[in-house]
Amino acid sequence: MPGRATQPLWNVLSLDRRASRAGGSLQDQIVAFFRDAVLRGALKPGARVPSSRQLAAELGVARITAVEAFDRLTAEGYFVTCRGVGLFVAETVTDAYLRALPAKPSRARRAPAAEEPARAVPSAPPAPALPLATGVPAIEEFPWRDWARISARVFRERPAAALAYGDPQGLPELRVAIAEYLGAARGIVCDPGQIVVVSGSQQGIDLTARVVAAPGDAAWFEEPGYGAARAALAAARLRVALVPADGDGIDVARGIEVAPEARLAVVTPSYHYPLGATLSLPRRRALLAWAHATGAWILEDDYYGDYRFAGRPQTPLHALDRHERVLYLGTFSKMLAPGLRLGYLVAPRSLVSRLTELKTATDRYTPGLMQLVLARFIAEGRLAAHVRRMRAVYRDRRTALLAALDRHARDVLDVGEPPDAGLHLAVRLKLDVDDVAVSRAVRRHGVQAAPLSSYYARPPRTRGFVLGFANTAGAEAAPAVRRLAAAVRSRAGRATRQSED
Ligand SMILES: Cc1ncc(COP(=O)(O)O)c(C=O)c1O
Repeated sequence: MPGRATQPLWNVLSLDRRASRAGGSLQDQIVAFFRDAVLRGALKPGARVPSSRQLAAELGVARITAVEAFDRLTAEGYFVTCRGVGLFVAETVTDAYLRALPAKPSRARRAPAAEEPARAVPSAPPAPALPLATGVPAIEEFPWRDWARISARVFRERPAAALAYGDPQGLPELRVAIAEYLGAARGIVCDPGQIVVVSGSQQGIDLTARVVAAPGDAAWFEEPGYGAARAALAAARLRVALVPADGDGIDVARGIEVAPEARLAVVTPSYHYPLGATLSLPRRRALLAWAHATGAWILEDDYYGDYRFAGRPQTPLHALDRHERVLYLGTFSKMLAPGLRLGYLVAPRSLVSRLTELKTATDRYTPGLMQLVLARFIAEGRLAAHVRRMRAVYRDRRTALLAALDRHARDVLDVGEPPDAGLHLAVRLKLDVDDVAVSRAVRRHGVQAAPLSSYYARPPRTRGFVLGFANTAGAEAAPAVRRLAAAVRSRAGRATRQSED
């Protein structure tokens, strides 16, 4: 726990001691003062807070007044207790999150906040997506005709049940369709009773983090990794233990060194996000063995699902798991469209009711009509057909992007060994230039190249770009890559000139 220098800020706290106090009781005034100081940034995250005894003496109030004020601030998440050391301003809680916390006084103890700052969830790319944008599939290829036909049929049936309060675990018809699809497409054998339908992966990560771990517990997280998942772990107040990922995926041995006691590991084994590595078989085995030995859980985020362009699809970790330690997380955001907000967890049986209870407490359930349309869409084989068609479209777009990189950017960008899967490629810079600055520069010209360094939570950060091809039609790839390469060269030239001056 950090312990930066004590700031004697509370010396300026002057209490209104009149019988009729406009600012509330003495305790209310102390709480309001510290809340405001944290929100304004006058008290920085990690700053040590005085002891209640010290504060009571300095302000001339009863000790119990200071104790209760600090209990409230701790319960509201402004302060965290480090047992045997003292009280500190919470490290990671964003202002928005702090404001959303209940202001109700409570004596409930808060566990320490996460180690890593809750970085903002990456902002949504504009629609329609710009060339090289990552994160969104080709929305213009959405199977509107089938979707409209199935929706019209469903609506004509007037399914009253889909408009009433539904099953929080998810529409049974959809769970059956997903279980059958997973068996055929991904080799996952599961019972529809193990599936919990969620409103996108994001909710699946949130529910998992809150069900399998308690605030203050550690969770392994890939470095670099998916910022939105990291933010969900931090919001659940888990300690984010960064575990490096390399060409074989997450380094399990490092994870065991860094946080052997972690309760959860969030991983992207099929296509590491964003570098694209497949988790090697020895590491898969090691990860499962660690989880089995320690009772930890693994959240397998299989966000790209069936988008593999050569060879057989990777066997998911879930299919190798003999001890029910893996929660498999699927989403329709890439296979269909993120705006549907539809995903699912395949959970170990022991977790299903707790996940469902938390889902009920959070948003009751995911909208029923949409689930029903999707269930029919899958059951009629339209999902499999759509993915088949899109695989061909994306394969061509990937080929066009690789050709453009080879032709126009070979001197500045290193493509490495591009994986035969996914909807993006991570490329490294060969020159020493700031990828964030280049990304900003090309954005002004209508090209969206996400800086690779921004996927790292802490240094050292590899510089490069994460380039999506799902929304870059073949003919758009070359001009976009030319623009990006020119921006890199121009930035490198500027740096050289500056160092010569
Ligand atoms: C690693 C990863 N997981 C999951 C998702 C999908 O998130 P959601 O299902 O919440 O739309 C994405 C989308 O970009 C992602 O990159």
